[in-house]
Amino acid sequence: MTAAAVWINGERAESLSALDRGLHYGDGVFETIACTHGRPRLLSLHLARLALGCARLRLPAPAAQRLRAGIEQAAAQADRSIVKLLLTRGIAVGRGYGVSGEQGSWLVIRYPWPEEDPALARAGVRVRTAVTRLGENPALAGLKHLNRLEQILARNEDTAVEAEEALMLSHSGKLISGTMSNVFLVDGVGGRLRLRTPDLALCGVAGVMRRVLLREAAREGIPVSECPLTPADLDAAAEVFLTNARIGIWPVRSIDGRALAPGPLTRDLQARLVPLLEAPDA
Ligand SMILES: Cc1ncc(COP(=O)(O)O)c(C=O)c1O
Repeated sequence: MTAAAVWINGERAESLSALDRGLHYGDGVFETIACTHGRPRLLSLHLARLALGCARLRLPAPAAQRLRAGIEQAAAQADRSIVKLLLTRGIAVGRGYGVSGEQGSWLVIRYPWPEEDPALARAGVRVRTAVTRLGENPALAGLKHLNRLEQILARNEDTAVEAEEALMLSHSGKLISGTMSNVFLVDGVGGRLRLRTPDLALCGVAGVMRRVLLREAAREGIPVSECPLTPADLDAAAEVFLTNARIGIWPVRSIDGRALAPGPLTRDLQARLVPLLEAPDA
């Protein structure tokens, strides 16, 4: 399998209307779903985030059952794939930003699973701090909406630092996330390791893998919190790791050239994730 396969509103198709508001304004939301053994992983969490985005942006959406069936049938046609679900406000009725009862469009796109160096999950990844910062806007914070220009700028900055991912700060200088991942810091208090991840009330995407990690850590009795974090917290962290729906956990092995060893809590959480992601709709 090499090329992407596309379904629009449940039918095999290749092109979307030039009048679609997703194209004009980024007026929509999306999910990137890792599929293994022909099944979408964490599908309920993906659909829940999509539903939250639709509610907050007042986007028309088909019944979750239809979306679920569309994603499942796309995933079933390959052992491993990445299925992207895009939902837009649809073909514009009028011109301009005003909404006029559009019907909505939904696209399912199946991509081949990307070839990847297994050392990234084992030995870890190098990260740099992006110069581009994230705007702060509680109305959009947490959502996986179609406007990803900040991530595109950050990802493509002109820099000599070699890195697999870039960390992004908010305009007020808080640590928020990677360009395509959420970030967790591990440090010790009173001889006990604790886990912290940035609070996303003002910006950032609330990742499904981040949600899984928060849930699992709490279940295992590992102290975990969502809180404001700064670059100083990053410098002081004993372990740092990144999460997303496809990669699971990537330990960080260097930040802006400063070496960092993947540590025991990161390894422990990586091991816990393996059986969990094998479970149906984990
Ligand atoms: C900006 C951003 N933050 C976080 C994530 C992680 O989200 P998820 O765990 O849902 O893949 C992504 C995933 O692509 C992302 O693009």
